[in-house]
Amino acid sequence: MNILVTGGAGYVGSHVVEELLKTGDHRVVILDNLQKGHRESLLGGEFIEGDLADTSLLYRIFAQHDIEAVVHMAADSLVGESVQHPDKYFHNNVTNGLNLLNAMVRHSARYIVFSSTAAVYGEPIATPITEEHPQAPTNPYGESKLFFERIMARYDHAYGLRHISLRYFNAAGASPSGKIGEDHRPETHLIPIILEVALGQREHVTICGTDYDTPDGTCVRDYIHVADLAAAHLLALEALAEGAASSVYNLGNGEGFSVREVIDMVEKVVGKPIAREEGERRPGDPAVLVASSQRIIQELGWRPKYHDLETIVETAWFWHKEHPQGFGS
Ligand code: UFG
Repeated sequence: MNILVTGGAGYVGSHVVEELLKTGDHRVVILDNLQKGHRESLLGGEFIEGDLADTSLLYRIFAQHDIEAVVHMAADSLVGESVQHPDKYFHNNVTNGLNLLNAMVRHSARYIVFSSTAAVYGEPIATPITEEHPQAPTNPYGESKLFFERIMARYDHAYGLRHISLRYFNAAGASPSGKIGEDHRPETHLIPIILEVALGQREHVTICGTDYDTPDGTCVRDYIHVADLAAAHLLALEALAEGAASSVYNLGNGEGFSVREVIDMVEKVVGKPIAREEGERRPGDPAVLVASSQRIIQELGWRPKYHDLETIVETAWFWHKEHPQGFGS
């Protein structure tokens, strides 16, 4: 199959590209504007530097490469930034995404796997969160992703464009191949920040809020290994290719870990103490986000291989140790 991966040079994107290439069955074209992605994270495929705002580029890509399916991951994805700059989020995640859908319709590309988020649910009223949980995002990031899910449903109805939305919980870890990992600049995510402390690049990790209604007062999250996430994209593409109807799936391990538990796990893995300070809550953080992924387990046969937190942290540590300055180390 000829597959276009947007945002394929990003953290999750590069792991999805690795997974697609491993099968040997697909021709992979990667479109990324490299604002956040890294050229060095691409292990193969054909790379095109460009932006979804460029509709003529999009039309050229679809025509020249005879694109049949899309994995759409190009987006802005920081909750806090989205609250400050909703214009950026609605523009990049919705308007530019529409350019992609229109190019798909025009060139009769038949299906799309979309990277969505737990942020579509907002503050949970029940845990673990199933796909039927009310969707009430509390920030423009989650809202932009939910809008796009709804737009795709309308495109399916009108133009027969089938889609699977994958609502990620907390992506973490690094490829077991050791070749690619997480490198955000600036880094805002918990596990890489703690690893930077372990590497002596930061003095301490700040625990963002210690007065949540959780067993130890810190936020609880469901960490999912990025390679397990990537495998789910392949399953989703295969299901769509076999005629599956449009759908939405949560992706998490169904187990929550508090910020303190994650820091303790990193201490265990790296074998040294991690300096920590208690700080204020980060605006927009729900206390607990834990997924039920039963639907994708049952319907697509997804089986996470790296589900325990220790393995997730070990793979992340292996990559960070070998790449202390990220890509380009
Ligand atoms: N945290 C800290 N200190 C830090 C960084 C994070 O205590 O220095 C805490 C956060 O407050 C949060 C937890 O660690 O409770 C995890 O934070 P991350 O930034 O690693 O991840 P988020 O849960 O904020 O974000 C993830 C995805 C987003 C998605 C969001 C859904 O990265 O794309 O889940 O809520 F929108």
